[in-house]
Order: sequence, then C-alpha cells, then structure tokens
Amino acid sequence: MSDDLLARAQAAAERAYAPYSHYLVGAAIRARNGRVYEGVNVENAAYPLGICAERTAIASAVVDGCRPGDLIEIAITASPCGGCRQWLHEFRLEQVRFPKADGEVVSYTPAELLPETWDLPG
Ligand code: THU
Repeated sequence: MSDDLLARAQAAAERAYAPYSHYLVGAAIRARNGRVYEGVNVENAAYPLGICAERTAIASAVVDGCRPGDLIEIAITASPCGGCRQWLHEFRLEQVRFPKADGEVVSYTPAELLPETWDLPG
C-alpha cells in the first residue's frame, strides 16, 4: 500500500467530529474503481451513537455504489476497534494499514486482525 492513502487518512482526521473524546480518527479507502473514500469518527452527546472513521468511510463507498469485494485497501490513523474489524471483514478489504501506538506503520489482512471471524451461517 502506498503511503499517500495514509496521508489522506491523516488529513481527513482533522475534520473528525469528536467533541467528547477529543480523539480524532481518519480513514481512507482505495476502491477498484480508482476512487478514494474518506471517513472520520462522528460522535454524539448520546455517546454510544457515535460512529468510527472506518465505518463512515465504508458507508461513503456504499453510497457511491461499492459492495463487498469492491474495496482494496484502507489506511487508518489508529488501530481499528473490534467492531470495525468485523466491518472490514464484511466488505472484504484486502489490506488494512495503520500506525501502532509506537508509530510503526503496519499492514494486515482482515483475517489476521480477526481470526475465526463470525459469519452468518448458511
Ligand atoms: N474510533 C474510531 O474512529 N475508530 C476505531 O477503530 C477506534 C475508535 C473513535 C470512536 C470515538 O469517536 C473515538 O475514537 C474514541 O473512542
């Protein structure tokens, strides 16, 4: 994965709406159609209603017509939470790139991030 996608995620993070945690997260997805979809975390005064950057990026891609298998790679400014790992699995991202807490940038497949992933039976 090229670092320009991570740069897009970092730029997007500045537009996050996180007045409660003050923790700004950005994500950028490269799709097979060549487009890049950005996302940020969007919080709410009713805390559990907030949504992560990865999910807003995937939702943006879906609004544009993308479906599972259409999204190649995602860069995130932070390690993805457990729920977002399930979303990355659902949309069959191929590579997930983010900086660890110590700053080292790492790349994983969704299967590496969420082994023995749950799927709807049948
Ligand atoms: N957050 C994300 O946007 N992505 C993650 O994978 C981890 C957490 C956001 C949610 C919340 O707005 C803030 O980070 C603090 O938890």
